[in-house]
Amino acid sequence: MLRPDKEFYIFVYLPGAVEAVPAAIVRLDDEGRLSGSYGRLYSQRREAVPVDPVSMPLAFPSFALEPGRMGAVRDAAPDLWGRLVIAKALGRNAEELHERDYLLFSNAARTGNLDFRASLKDGEPESEPPLSSDADILLDAVENLERERPVAPQYMELLAQGSSMGGSRPKSAMLHDGILWIAKFPAKGDKWSNARVEKSSMELAADCGIDVPELRLLDVEGRDVLLVRRFDREPVPGGFARRGYLSALSLCRWTELERAAYSYEAIADSAAAMGVKNLSQLFRRMAFNVLCRNTDDHPRNHGFLANGHSLVLAPAFDIVPSASTYGVGMHVTHAMNIGNAGRLGSVANVLSCAPRFGLTRVQAEDVLAGMLATIARWRESFERNGVREDETERFRWSFEHWESDPEAQALLDRRGPALR
Ligand SMILES: Nc1ncnc2c1ncn2[C@@H]1O[C@H](COP(=O)(O)OP(=O)(O)O)[C@@H](O)[C@H]1O
Ligand SMILES: [Mg+2]
Repeated sequence: MLRPDKEFYIFVYLPGAVEAVPAAIVRLDDEGRLSGSYGRLYSQRREAVPVDPVSMPLAFPSFALEPGRMGAVRDAAPDLWGRLVIAKALGRNAEELHERDYLLFSNAARTGNLDFRASLKDGEPESEPPLSSDADILLDAVENLERERPVAPQYMELLAQGSSMGGSRPKSAMLHDGILWIAKFPAKGDKWSNARVEKSSMELAADCGIDVPELRLLDVEGRDVLLVRRFDREPVPGGFARRGYLSALSLCRWTELERAAYSYEAIADSAAAMGVKNLSQLFRRMAFNVLCRNTDDHPRNHGFLANGHSLVLAPAFDIVPSASTYGVGMHVTHAMNIGNAGRLGSVANVLSCAPRFGLTRVQAEDVLAGMLATIARWRESFERNGVREDETERFRWSFEHWESDPEAQALLDRRGPALR
C-alpha cells in the first residue's frame, strides 16, 4: 500500500490517444486533500488538456484542493461496488484500504481520461475487458462475491478489470460487438428485472427528447444484463480513445456530504459558466426524473464530457423510477433542490425554475406537455422490453402520479389539447 506522504502521478489520455502521458504529480493526505502540480513538459504541450477544467485548470499549474473535493480524480475512482471488488482482489477489508490504494489499483476501465500511477515508469494497465461471451462466468463471480462465497482467482481477475466504474450496483466494463459497454448486473435483493426496467425507462426518456446512450439487453441463461454504451470511449486504431469526464458533483465542487446544497439550478449555472449551451436538455432530464419519480437523481448521476477546456453535457444515465404505491408517498422528494418548493417532485415546482435553464414559462410548459403525452404511453416501452406484467404494475404510480396533479392537468388543458 502506498505511504501517505508518497507522491503519485496523474496520467492523461490526450484526445485520440490510446496511451496516457504523465500530467501532474500529486499527494493525497489522510483528510482527502489532493495537492500537486502539473509537469512543465506537460503544460507546454500544445494539445495538453486539464485533468479537471474546473478544479485544476492548466492556467494554474499548482493546485491544493479542499478535503473531499477531488473533482475529476474522484469521478475516476471506484464507488461501493468497485471498492468491494478491489478489496477482495487484494485480500483486504474494504475499510483497511485508503483512497490512494483505490486510485492506484491498476485499472483500464475507469471513467474518463485519467490514470493514476505510483511511478513514472509504470506502464499502461493491462486492458482486456471481459467479453460478453464471458458474461455467465462474471455473473457467477458477482453472485459469489455478493454472498461472501469464495471466487476463483481467475474470475476475480476478470471482475477486477471492470472494477473502477462508479456506482453501487454490480457492474463491469464489457466488450461486445467491438464496442465498450458498461454491463449492469442483477444485484442481490432485486425485486424485479432492474435491467429491463432501466432500459424501458431510458428508452422512454429518449422518446421525451433526452439524449441517452445506446442500450442493449443480454439474456444470460435467464439472468438479465443491461449494456450501456460507454460515452467516454471510442474505438480508434490500436485501442480506445477516451474523453475526460466530470460529474455534476465535481462541476459544482460539492462534497458527498453537502447534500443540503445539491440543486439543479446550481448545476445549470455552473454548466453555463463552463460553456455548456443546451441547458434546456438539463431541464428535460430534471422534468423526466420528476415525472417518473427517479428520486436517486443525485449529482453523481449527472455528468459532463470534456470539450477542450470547456464542457458539454454527457448523455443521460442511471434513470430508474422508484416503485411507488398510490396514496403512499404522494409528496415525493428528490435528491436535489428543484425550484420554489425545494425538492418536491411536482410539475409546478419544475416550472418554477424554468428561467434558470434559459426557458420562458411558455416554452417550459410546451416541453412538459409534450413529455406528459409521451409518458402516458410508458407501458408500451415496458412491454417492448419484456418487463413482466406484475412488475410493470409496481411502477404504475411512478408514471401516472401526475394524473392527479391539478397543475399537470391545467397545463395539459392550456398547452396540450392537441396532444390528448
Ligand atoms: N454510458 C456511460 N459511459 C461512461 N460512463 C458512464 C456511463 N454511464 C454511467 N457512467 C459512469 O459510471 C457510473 C456508474 O453508472 P450508473 O449507471 O450510475 O450505475 P449505478 O446504478 O451503480 O449507480 C456513473 O456514475 C458514471 O460515472
Ligand atoms: Mg449511479
